[in-house]
Amino acid sequence: MARRSFAHSRVLITGASSGIGRELALAFARRGAGVMLAARRESELHVVADQCRRQSAGVDAILLAGNLTDPAYRRALAQTATEKWHGLDILVNNAGVSAHGRFAGSDEATLRQVMELNFFAAAELTRLALPLLKQGERPAIVNIGSIIGHRGLPLNSEYAASKFALRGWTESLRAELAADGVDVLLVSPGTTETEFFDHLIAKRADLPWGESTAIPAAAVAEQTVRALERGRHEIFPNWRGRALVYANRLAPGLIDRVVAKLGSPPP
Ligand SMILES: NC(=O)c1ccc[n+]([C@@H]2O[C@H](COP(=O)([O-])OP(=O)(O)OC[C@H]3O[C@@H](n4cnc5c(N)ncnc54)[C@H](OP(=O)(O)O)[C@@H]3O)[C@@H](O)[C@H]2O)c1
Repeated sequence: MARRSFAHSRVLITGASSGIGRELALAFARRGAGVMLAARRESELHVVADQCRRQSAGVDAILLAGNLTDPAYRRALAQTATEKWHGLDILVNNAGVSAHGRFAGSDEATLRQVMELNFFAAAELTRLALPLLKQGERPAIVNIGSIIGHRGLPLNSEYAASKFALRGWTESLRAELAADGVDVLLVSPGTTETEFFDHLIAKRADLPWGESTAIPAAAVAEQTVRALERGRHEIFPNWRGRALVYANRLAPGLIDRVVAKLGSPPP
């Protein structure tokens, strides 16, 4: 099958006000796609929409601000795609949050908040978008997961749970939608240079591995768009993250011992 191209595609991106989502909007717009930007901070969405239009004259950049954990906002996004675009070709479930700290010192509200955005909002927005996507042009769903959706790490249990859930659901969905011609791509970044670590729901501990190996958000976005062009199903944009996932498949006991040291309380 010919490579996918995005000229005139209609792309809905969640979490488009910063980080990877913002860079994805710019990467799709550079290729001539129309972008619909979703997140809570309306002023930031306007900045990203203006950047898309300035960078690619004539590109269609629309936005709708709201909280993705609100079902009414998710319905409004699907309705806007129907009214303004009469359909949708690509849905990117990118919005996400995390919390740092030991599970025992955390609470139910934190777990539910992380799951609500990272998993339930993505799944339910997808449910609403599916009828539009099934009539789209070379349709695809992109789910932004994480290395921590392949290998759980200490002090990050709520986030790991949400990204494992996202990955399992993504695999089931891919199989169910193959006959409809809807591609499903899972992107599993490692540490990326964004505002992510400033937006934690709770910070009860510092992660022992730090952020020193972070890669630029633009690199994650560019690899994601190229993977879609080639019809790939799974990518790991950060080589260190990919190495951890492969090492864990080959020697899970060894990795268990290494991460248990990272999770031990300080003496
Ligand atoms: N940065 C990393 O190291 C890293 C590593 C692996 C995976 N990821 C994943 O990459 C994705 C993007 O994160 P990022 O790194 O680009 O961080 P980011 O810059 O903090 O972006 C998160 C985005 O989600 C939006 N968002 C948060 N809560 C929301 C809500 N309730 N409703 C609507 N939008 C909401 C934020 O916008 P508003 O605040 O305006 O709502 C923002 O646009 C996430 O799924 C994250 O799990 C990140």
